[in-house]
Amino acid sequence: MGWENKVALVTGAGSGMGRASARELAARGATVVGLDYREDALEEVVRELPSGRAMAVTADVSDVEQVEEAVARAVKEFGRLDVVCNIAGIVDDATPTHEVPLDQWHRVVAVDLTGPFLVIRSALPYLLANGGGSIVNMASSAGLFAAGGGSPYTAAKHGLVGLTRRVALEYGGRGVRANAICPGYIATELNAAYRTPDPGNDFVAQAVAATPAGRWGTPEEVAQLVAFLAGDESRFVTGAVHTIDGGLLIR
Ligand SMILES: NC(=O)c1ccc[n+]([C@@H]2O[C@H](COP(=O)([O-])OP(=O)(O)OC[C@H]3O[C@@H](n4cnc5c(N)ncnc54)[C@H](O)[C@@H]3O)[C@@H](O)[C@H]2O)c1
Repeated sequence: MGWENKVALVTGAGSGMGRASARELAARGATVVGLDYREDALEEVVRELPSGRAMAVTADVSDVEQVEEAVARAVKEFGRLDVVCNIAGIVDDATPTHEVPLDQWHRVVAVDLTGPFLVIRSALPYLLANGGGSIVNMASSAGLFAAGGGSPYTAAKHGLVGLTRRVALEYGGRGVRANAICPGYIATELNAAYRTPDPGNDFVAQAVAATPAGRWGTPEEVAQLVAFLAGDESRFVTGAVHTIDGGLLIR
């Protein structure tokens, strides 16, 4: 089935990799439902997409009612759902584990792990009704090793990798694929605060030094992988974890 017949839900579409992925999927011909909790940013992105083939839905992925309503609205508007890209996410502040405030733990897990679960749970009946679909979950290098964030982020992203595998196992025979992406350092708003020039800030240089490719990645580069996994070219790829990190994890 070509892209022009597919409807894709992209969370986190207001910024960074979600925005780039929404644009890439739309450029390939998909109808795109962008979801984000920042209404202004989301509206701006969706306004640029082909009219009649794009919709903005403001929702918080950690809120079960908002997610269920968002998925139902998407299907009501476009009649089907084929692709789900869970890209919305937040980071923690890498506080040492014994000092992590409980509310930070709960919030990061709610957005980065429960959020994708809620979206997948709501979307699955529609994917199954079509005879299948593709789920792409944006994990992180912190979903595979321990140096990419604090405990809440690391645990949530490891959990998202596990959720991806479980969904792939349960629904593979019914045409639903699920894959995880683990980006390394990608220049987005998420880490903009850490990238501001500041003599005392060596994070930028450390990230580049840790990355064999010698630079930060771009959201557009990740969006190419999202689109590949979302579409039929990857029809035999499921339950897999795809790094896109300029070689970060081989060190
Ligand atoms: N940037 C990196 O270096 C990097 C590396 C690895 C993984 N990631 C992951 O990639 C994903 C996208 O990150 P990004 O770098 O593009 O960040 P970003 O901050 O540019 O974009 C994230 C988007 O998610 C939205 N969002 C956050 N919480 C939400 C919620 N509760 N409900 C709905 N929308 C919400 C934000 O409003 C924002 O538009 C995240 O899951 C992040 O953990 C990022």
